[in-house]
Amino acid sequence: MAFLADALSRVKPSATIAVTQKARELKTQGRDIISLSVGEPDFDTPDNIKKAAIDAINRGETKYTPVSGITPLREAIVKKFKRENGLDYKANQTIVCTGGKQVLYNAFVATLNKGDEVIIPAPYWVSYPDMVLLCGGEPVFVATTLAHGFKLQAADLERAITPRTKWIILNSPSNPSGAAYTRDELKAITDVLVRHPHVWILTDDMYEHLTYGDFVFTTPAQIEPNLMDRTLTMNGVSKAYAMTGWRIGYAAGPDVLMKAMDMVQGQQTSGACSISQWAAVEALNGPQDFITTSRKAFEGRRDLVVSMLNQASLIDCPMPEGAFYVYPSCAKAIGKKTESGKVIATDEDFVTALLEAEGVAAVHGTAFGLGPNFRISYATSNAILEEACGKIQRFTASLR
Ligand SMILES: Cc1ncc(COP(=O)(O)O)c(C=O)c1O
Repeated sequence: MAFLADALSRVKPSATIAVTQKARELKTQGRDIISLSVGEPDFDTPDNIKKAAIDAINRGETKYTPVSGITPLREAIVKKFKRENGLDYKANQTIVCTGGKQVLYNAFVATLNKGDEVIIPAPYWVSYPDMVLLCGGEPVFVATTLAHGFKLQAADLERAITPRTKWIILNSPSNPSGAAYTRDELKAITDVLVRHPHVWILTDDMYEHLTYGDFVFTTPAQIEPNLMDRTLTMNGVSKAYAMTGWRIGYAAGPDVLMKAMDMVQGQQTSGACSISQWAAVEALNGPQDFITTSRKAFEGRRDLVVSMLNQASLIDCPMPEGAFYVYPSCAKAIGKKTESGKVIATDEDFVTALLEAEGVAAVHGTAFGLGPNFRISYATSNAILEEACGKIQRFTASLR
């Protein structure tokens, strides 16, 4: 009898964590490495949020909390959804989890039966398919194209829906492509979903606040209120307030789902960290100027990186609307040879050769289900980005 669970054979470790680990190892060997593989803001958590956490410790807010979160945070979430998204949820329709990751995991554990299908547009965040597989479901991938800005097309969605479809995951702005759906683009998708009442919508809005220029963020239940009773609207403080280590994600949805997620969480981790929850209350209710400042910084970095990558030979880099990633194509580099004579047959070969030759760590697109591309996280300083893009330019110019 095998010791490890069969379900484990269906999943693989996170490719982004693997690349980050490899870059770290090379660094400890003394190599000069620039890692553009990490998916977190480089800014520090704002002081008012840190202070709220310290105050919570000093007040003795250090005990178990209710499973779905402290009331002040659930009320702050209700206000946030109303203020920023025009959505009316009640506090008991919200849940606070240990990171956005646990929102997803709770939802899948609570709803997936063997063979249930979850539609995942590609490229996708690496964890979606593996979470679905761990929970016994079947990921159904729908490819997008560069020509459509990596956005799911209504006709492709329609074709992917079957009687076994339980969920579709939407993620705008997207990790890894940075693509964000306009209201009209999202409406085309929600129009299809209205016609298929057995399909639930999980919208991962983690990067909501990171959109650039005059882009206006929208979320499915806001565009199509008819979908409200089968939509899980998910968000979190990790990316918006530079709070990745605090581990707070949240969501709101219909009673039947939220009760089930509460039960799953109650038998798993119970309530999220009490101190982090108080910090999140301040993040959502306190001054919001950090969002404006970080958005401005990210927009400048995006423009710098897109411009420098498009000056590199063999690379085509579309201009994404949001998040802090670019997802350039390296299709023209496939079939070329490095200076050391290695043939670049895949996007994974491309990022491996780039890391070996220039010490720049990026993640290959096939890890996100669509290549030949690579993902660069520009959540680092302009000086580092300039140096890294210069190295990428030198690398692609050296290919024959
Ligand atoms: C698209 C997306 N969703 C969810 C998460 C998870 O966020 P958290 O760190 O709050 O678990 C991430 C983190 O990288 C992400 O990129």
